[in-house]
Amino acid sequence: MTDQASLILEVHGLTKTFPGRAKPAIADVAFNVRRGSSLGIVGESGSGKSTTARCIAGLIPADKGEVVLDGRQIDGLDRGLMRQVRRHLQMVFQDPFSSLDPRMTAEELVGEGLLVHGLAKDKRARREAVVRNLELVGLSAADLERYPRAFSGGQRQRIAIARAIAVRPKLLICDEPVSSLDVSVQAQVLNLLLDLKAQLGLSILFIAHDLAVVRYLCEDVVVMNEGRVVEAGSRDDIFDSPRHPYTKSLLAAVPVPDPRMSRRRAPLKEEP
Ligand SMILES: Nc1ncnc2c1ncn2[C@@H]1O[C@H](COP(=O)(O)OP(=O)(O)OP(=O)(O)O)[C@@H](O)[C@H]1O
Ligand SMILES: [Mg+2]
Repeated sequence: MTDQASLILEVHGLTKTFPGRAKPAIADVAFNVRRGSSLGIVGESGSGKSTTARCIAGLIPADKGEVVLDGRQIDGLDRGLMRQVRRHLQMVFQDPFSSLDPRMTAEELVGEGLLVHGLAKDKRARREAVVRNLELVGLSAADLERYPRAFSGGQRQRIAIARAIAVRPKLLICDEPVSSLDVSVQAQVLNLLLDLKAQLGLSILFIAHDLAVVRYLCEDVVVMNEGRVVEAGSRDDIFDSPRHPYTKSLLAAVPVPDPRMSRRRAPLKEEP
C-alpha cells in the first residue's frame, strides 16, 4: 500500500531499558510516518511515548531497533553524522518555559539552527530568514530583540516552533506541545501546526495525552501501552472502530469530540 519512498520515517523494533530498571520503557516499537502526513502517538503517562521520541531523535541511545529517516538509517550514527541528521529531525517540547534559553533573544533562538547548519550566508541573510520564520508563526520583526520572558506561553511555543522549522526539517517531532498551555491558547497553536504542515509540507510526529488533540491533528494514530504499540491505524480506524481493548478503554475514559462536527463553530478566543 505505502511504498518506501512515501515514508519519511520508519521505526523498527525500537527497544530501550533504562539502567537499573527491570522492565523496558519501550519494547519492539514499530510504525511508519508517511511523507507530508501527521502521525499521533497516544497512551497513558509512562507508556513510553517520550522515550520513543527521544530514541528516534537520537537524544538517548536505543538498545535495539532501527530508525530510517527519508530512506537513510540514522540509529547508531557517530556524533558528527548525527549532528548533520539532527537538522532534519527537529523537536518541540512540552514546556516552552524550560526549553528556550532565557538568555537568548528570539533572533538568536530562531537563528541558531541556521547558523549551526550554515544555512544563511551572513548575519543579514540570517536575520531575514529569522523574520520570515517569525512571520510564519504569527510573530514579527518587532520581536527579534525580545527575550523569552517577554512573551506569553503561547508565544514562547510559537518561538520554539519557529526555531524548529527554520531549518526546514524532514520531520517535526512534537512531544505534548500544547499540554502546558492555557486551553484557550491550545487550539491556536494546533491550528498553527496544521497551517505549517500544509504550507511547508511538513511531516509531523505528534505525541499527546489528549485524544481530542490527536483526532484534530493527526491522520494516523499509534496507541501505546506499557511500552508497546497495541494498535495502529488511520484516524478513522482508531476513533470510529477501535479494536484493541486498551484503545477502547482509552476512548471510553474520555469523550473525544469529532473535530469535523465542530469546524463551523466560532474560532476560539485569540490570545491577547
Ligand atoms: N531517564 C529515565 N530513567 C529511568 N526511567 C525512565 C527515564 N525516562 C523515562 N523512564 C521510564 O520509562 C517509562 C516510559 O516513560 P516515558 O516518559 O517515555 O512515558 P510517556 O508516555 O512519555 O509519559 P508521559 O505521558 O507522562 O509523558 C516510564 O516507566 C518512566 O518512568
Ligand atoms: Mg512524555
